[in-house]
Order: sequence, then C-alpha cells, then structure tokens
Amino acid sequence: MRKIINRNKIRLSLNKRLAALLAFSMLSLSACAETILQGDVKRGEVLSKVCAMCHGVNGISNVPIYPNLAGQKEQYLVLQLKAFRSGERVNMAMTSHAQKLTDQDIADLSAYYAKLNSQAK
Ligand code: HEC
Repeated sequence: MRKIINRNKIRLSLNKRLAALLAFSMLSLSACAETILQGDVKRGEVLSKVCAMCHGVNGISNVPIYPNLAGQKEQYLVLQLKAFRSGERVNMAMTSHAQKLTDQDIADLSAYYAKLNSQAK
C-alpha cells in the first residue's frame, strides 16, 4: 500500500516538473515570437544611408576590410546587429552604429539588405 502511494507521489512530482517544463518552453517560444519583427524594406532603405559610407550604397563595400551586406540572409543580419548592439560582438566601427538601433530598425535594415543583389557592382 505504502509503495503505491510513494509511486503516485513520484508520478505527481514528475507531472509537475513536466508542466513546469512545458510552461517554460511555451514562454520562451512566445518570447521568440515577439522578437521576430516584420521588416519594412522601404524604411530600411532610408535608415541605410548612414551605413552606406562603409557598406556601400548597394550594400557592396568599396573597402576591403568592410563586409558586403547585399543579399545576406535576413535573420543572420538581425542576429549580427543585435550581437553588436549587446556587445556580444565587438567592432570599433560597428558598435556605436548598432547601439543606436531599435529592434524595428534592425528588422527594417536586415529586410532591406537581404533584398539587394549580392552581384551588383
Ligand atoms: C564606420 C564604418 C561602418 C558603418 C558606418 C557601419 N558599419 Fe557595419 N560593419 C563595419 C565593419 C568594419 C564590419 C566588420 C566587423 C567585424 O569585423 O567584426 C561591419 C559589420 C557589419 C555587419 C556584420 C556582417 C557580417 O557578415 O557578419 C552588419 C550586419 C553590419 N555591419 C550592418 C551595418 C548597418 C545596418 C549599418 C548602419 C546602421 C552599419 N553596419 C554601419 C563598418 C561599418
């Protein structure tokens, strides 16, 4: 009899743990969903003027040590800009520019650069 009760207790605590895990994963999923913003290409183009001096007018850089952005994967651009902004990725030229960007700016700039032709001159 005792054994059965113990087993039920264990099962109950396991269920509680599973419920907590489920709640946690749902929370983190919704957190992810919130951070994926729809990028506005037109607004991104306007914001990109300041980036053009280093990354080129069409996202193709004229400076050997500055990367091209044209045609890059949109989500990769979002992640890199957020990494510069948070300080996870550090670069003297980029950090101060990234720190001024909102999540929406980042989404718009990334949508814009992803749409550009990577073969343009
Ligand atoms: C003063 C020059 C300069 C300006 C202005 C500038 N960047 Fe950069 N950017 C760089 C350099 C240099 C790197 C390479 C950093 C490194 O080596 O880690 C870089 C890297 C990046 C990367 C990562 C590319 C990759 O392949 O990983 C992104 C995305 C980016 N810049 C976007 C922007 C955006 C958007 C703007 C405008 C808001 C901007 N940059 C303005 C110089 C600049």
